[in-house]
Amino acid sequence: IPAGGEAHAAEALPPAGPHRAQDPVPPAFTTAMPVPPVLRPLSSTGDVDVYKLTIRRSTAEILPGTATDVLTYDGHFPGPVIQARSGRRVLVRHHNDLDMPVTVHLHGASVPPPYDGNPMDVFAPGTSRTYVYTNRQPHASLWFHDHAHHMEAEHVYRGLTGTYLLTDELEQSLPLPKGQYDVPVTIRDARFDEQGQLAYTMSDRNRTTILANGKPTPYFQVAARKYRFRLLNASNLRLFALGLSDGTPLTQIGSDGGLLERPVAVPALVLSPGERADVVIDFSRHPVGTRLVLTNSGPGRPDQVGKVLRFDVVRKADDPSSIPKVLRTLPPATALPKAAVTRHIALSMDEDGRPDPRGFINGRLYDPDRIDTTVAFGSSEIWNVTNTNRRIAHNFHLHLVQFRVLERGGLPAGPTEAGLKDTVRVAPGETVKLHVTFDAFRGDYVYHCHMLDHSAMGMMATFRVR
Ligand code: C2O
Ligand code: CU
Repeated sequence: IPAGGEAHAAEALPPAGPHRAQDPVPPAFTTAMPVPPVLRPLSSTGDVDVYKLTIRRSTAEILPGTATDVLTYDGHFPGPVIQARSGRRVLVRHHNDLDMPVTVHLHGASVPPPYDGNPMDVFAPGTSRTYVYTNRQPHASLWFHDHAHHMEAEHVYRGLTGTYLLTDELEQSLPLPKGQYDVPVTIRDARFDEQGQLAYTMSDRNRTTILANGKPTPYFQVAARKYRFRLLNASNLRLFALGLSDGTPLTQIGSDGGLLERPVAVPALVLSPGERADVVIDFSRHPVGTRLVLTNSGPGRPDQVGKVLRFDVVRKADDPSSIPKVLRTLPPATALPKAAVTRHIALSMDEDGRPDPRGFINGRLYDPDRIDTTVAFGSSEIWNVTNTNRRIAHNFHLHLVQFRVLERGGLPAGPTEAGLKDTVRVAPGETVKLHVTFDAFRGDYVYHCHMLDHSAMGMMATFRVR
């Protein structure tokens, strides 16, 4: 991925993208980016918060003046935000009001099997399912999404995603931007037909409309101070490489499994599907009136997918927040529990241009009746994950655990991947070396490519902790 991307002058108003008369997608920066609502618990007693959500069809005004059919958690596109605290339980009762089975996976969470949202553990139309989250893990920016086997890709594409922000004492004690200055931003791509409806086909290369919190390349008005953004790539296939149009690096403070040990300056922040990054942007460096674009130099034509969102600095503000030099401590790679087993995982898919490509892990299609990998409860293992395709990018997600990325391509992993991770990108031909400890729960869980079109094609497998 080329670093940097297009460096516009901070003040320059970028030209509108290619806009045809019948194109329902408006020019960039014509809509405001909303902030998804924080759900209020139905009840909050003792140490448990109870939520009730209905999974249902709805319409969303994604494109100005157009009602687009979407699938939603309680009518929100993208989904709402659940705020949770380590050690405090959350119960979410989901009612399935669709005409097809669903399952809800809390991505990045360590939960016992009945509540994990396994692809086969679906609940039927007209029924409800209560998920119990014990939140026995440190703070992390998690998300939830549908996982019904073979339907996960389309369900997520049509809107079944939500944000789950788990916090803890440590995170709360830091002077980072909070409240209205801590903004979840779900980024994804989409393709609209001429009626402004979401078009879905597997492996579609023409999803060239970038949505930030459900709006096409919107603007977001900010005060001249620091903001924390919880970035989530909820695309099925698209890899983003995010930067700022004034050329200043993004300050990344967190990744999938919570804060990094220390902030890191990143000129082009790469996020593959399912990955999260917490960044802080300090708008006080810019006078009121400045417009700063969050750019994407990832794959795709820059005139189509090169812009994600524009920050408009509209007012001054006090800023009591700061970014500590040390955010948390994690055991260094050399001090991790000794690994008893080393495994090799090969991700691949048909690359011969057949109309229905299949996805494989170690040469096998997903079979829910097969246990592919058995690990001992409490043990640590090294997983070497290789993308054996020559042209197709993949990534790798394990349920249940947060792991450490030890190496990428034989070299120590970079600082953006030095924290706790649950999803890691794997470029064509590349191998990543992971350290995983299985000490949370016993049971059967899946691992898969999080380019969901690929997992739906079979690039998924089951591991058993026993
Ligand atoms: Cu976010 Cu098995 O997925
Ligand atoms: Cu893949």
